[in-house]
Amino acid sequence: MQASIDRLQMQLKEEIAGAKDLNELDNIRVRYLGKKGEITLLIRNMGRLSPEERPLFGRRLNELKAVAETMLEERKKELYSELSVKRWEKERVDITLPGRPFNLGRKHPITMVLEEIEEIFTSMGFKIAEGPEVELDYYNFEALNMPKDHPARDMQDSFYINPGILLRTHTSPVEVRTMEAQAPELPVRIISPGKVYRRDDDITHSPMFHQVEGLVVDKGISLADLKGTLLMFAREMFGKDREIRLRPSFFPFTEPSAEVDISCIACNGKGCRICGETGWLEILGSGMSHPRVLEISGYNPEEVSGYAFGMGVERIAMLKYGIDDIRLFYTNDLRMLSRY
Ligand code: FA5
Ligand code: MG
Repeated sequence: MQASIDRLQMQLKEEIAGAKDLNELDNIRVRYLGKKGEITLLIRNMGRLSPEERPLFGRRLNELKAVAETMLEERKKELYSELSVKRWEKERVDITLPGRPFNLGRKHPITMVLEEIEEIFTSMGFKIAEGPEVELDYYNFEALNMPKDHPARDMQDSFYINPGILLRTHTSPVEVRTMEAQAPELPVRIISPGKVYRRDDDITHSPMFHQVEGLVVDKGISLADLKGTLLMFAREMFGKDREIRLRPSFFPFTEPSAEVDISCIACNGKGCRICGETGWLEILGSGMSHPRVLEISGYNPEEVSGYAFGMGVERIAMLKYGIDDIRLFYTNDLRMLSRY
């Protein structure tokens, strides 16, 4: 009897060791310990033994059962860990491989320059005002002292939606809209950044571009205020050694009018290829608000005065970053856009 139990245990041990997966192992368990399993049947048939044999044999069988359960449990653990090692191998990640490049988005250079301009003027106390890009002829031209057939309209070849509505050609209409909304309250001190549209297309002119308008209206505003503010802007934007120069010019909505140049950022005013040997670079148009514009917008030109300016943002970005073709901003080549 004892010998057959030992044999059974040996046989079981071999089978368990040979089980190749959890399924096989479970079949072994059923064959030995299941309801009709070999060990189960032996235990059940113990009643047939003589009373002398029973205790010894019973203990031995219980031991066998316990050993069988332990062996099954241990093999199960082994098979589990072999399984996860295999899966691990299959899903292995080689951390020494180079990563897949991941492109982070960033601001467009025009946006960066716009934000810098806004920062400089808001730190001087200017508020930001906005106006529509689809504009009435009235605000874009008429109220700015450019009646129908005025020759100055020809300088801003326009996209018309219908005879009374167009894509604004400059940000100056926001001057009138702001004053209309605020009059007679003083002071008016705004900048207005935004997109504008003209039928232009060459290496320094784009059909869509950005301007930043500036307007200050108050009692006693003079050309000296305009000049001082723009000098401060030029030095913040282009470096503290910048000088500015006001050149007489003409705009129907300012009188007197001036184009403002900065000393060349490449040669510092000595004259070079960039500035066409003049030492100066034009950055904006400006002037003292025309009395008729103040009046039509709700202010009394006898009591108040104002100055205004309008700068081309692409122009400023081109100077700042040394870009010579305006179209590079809008062809969306990431190699170019990510340089700034
Ligand atoms: C004006 O638009 C006036 N509204 C500026 C102004 C405002 C004068 C307030 C007085 C008082 P001008 O047409 O010169 O002016 O345009 C201003 C700037 O816009 C130019 O100096 C230039 O830098 C830029 N600009 C004009 N056309 C284009 C274009 N097609 N592409 C890119 N920039 C342009
Ligand atoms: Mg001009």
